[in-house]
Amino acid sequence: MEFDTWRQENQPSALKDTPSHWIAEHSEPNPFNDVLPKSAFAEKKIWAMGGGKGGVGKSMIMSNLAISLAQRGERVIAIDLDLGGANLHTTFGIEMPRQTMSDFFERRSQTLEGCISNTPIQNLEMISGAQDHLGIANLDYDKKVLLLNEIQKLEADYILIDLGAGTNNNTIDFFNFADLGILTMLPEPTSIENAYRFIKSVFYRKLMTAQHLSPIRNWIQIAMDSKNQEGLRTPGDLYRKVNQEHPDLALKLKDEIQRIRVHLIVNQARTQSDVDLGFSIKSVCKKYFGIQVDYVGYLDYDSAVWQAIRRKRPVLLEFPNSQLASNLERMSHYLSSQKGQSGETE
Ligand SMILES: Nc1ncnc2c1ncn2[C@@H]1O[C@H](COP(=O)(O)OP(=O)(O)O)[C@@H](O)[C@H]1O
Ligand SMILES: [Mg+2]
Repeated sequence: MEFDTWRQENQPSALKDTPSHWIAEHSEPNPFNDVLPKSAFAEKKIWAMGGGKGGVGKSMIMSNLAISLAQRGERVIAIDLDLGGANLHTTFGIEMPRQTMSDFFERRSQTLEGCISNTPIQNLEMISGAQDHLGIANLDYDKKVLLLNEIQKLEADYILIDLGAGTNNNTIDFFNFADLGILTMLPEPTSIENAYRFIKSVFYRKLMTAQHLSPIRNWIQIAMDSKNQEGLRTPGDLYRKVNQEHPDLALKLKDEIQRIRVHLIVNQARTQSDVDLGFSIKSVCKKYFGIQVDYVGYLDYDSAVWQAIRRKRPVLLEFPNSQLASNLERMSHYLSSQKGQSGETE
């Protein structure tokens, strides 16, 4: 791991800050204790799309990745987990389906499978977000576990989950639950800050929910507060502390850290430095967290996107020969060749 070489003064402020609610939030119960093991449909792959901020292109990218997979003959179910702001159906060019996640949460449908709707695209089905104003952050523990288990039971080649904005605990749990977590960001200061905050949340939540790290959970929790009394300022400090006290657990910690993968997409790039941003985030995360950020690539700012959205048509279908469509297709090929986060959270 490289995190030893990263100097304090180079750290982006989003990595150093500890918002007051953050630690309590990330200490919530571990849902992965109650989630079924992955076996029902062994080959199924789950991708989750997150992003610290709204309007960065998560739904646009996810819907087009789903279409690209479906066009290649994969059976895909896209799930809109942007509860409260559900609009994934629009990106597929359809009206709000009659069945939504609300039917599942309110037990009008006993199964999540019962909420699946067809789309006009062959091989692609979707589950629309809830119609009420329940945000994902308000999803209680029991409902979260129920939903994770129901997603696990769905039968498809790919399940793609649009998580909506935010870095709340529930969002991060779905991100970490997925085989592949994709983070979309814009080359703008607020979005960059949010992306770092998102990655930091993924990192600590992953460690907090790793069963075999439970003996050092209190150290992890202390390290999450960058102003802690123990002087643990960075993930590197945490690692060194654990290595001093429990060298055997330091190996497990290292292993867990090295298995964390975040797949990054920079959207609406306009300049070369926008494109390069992905590389610098990758490098910072390697040095600071010791984790692998996989820079999937960038998408240019392209008027084809809003033209397609105005026509309520996905870019891939409306402008199949555009540069944007071919980049999205390349991304879907690349991502489907990735193994994903190896191993379970347990
Ligand atoms: N590459 C792009 N080029 C131009 N406009 C884009 C691009 N990506 C997204 N947009 C615009 O940003 C808006 C928000 O995209 P959306 O996918 O709804 O974001 P999110 O799901 O993250 O909130 C879209 O309506 C579209 O107009
Ligand atoms: Mg969206």
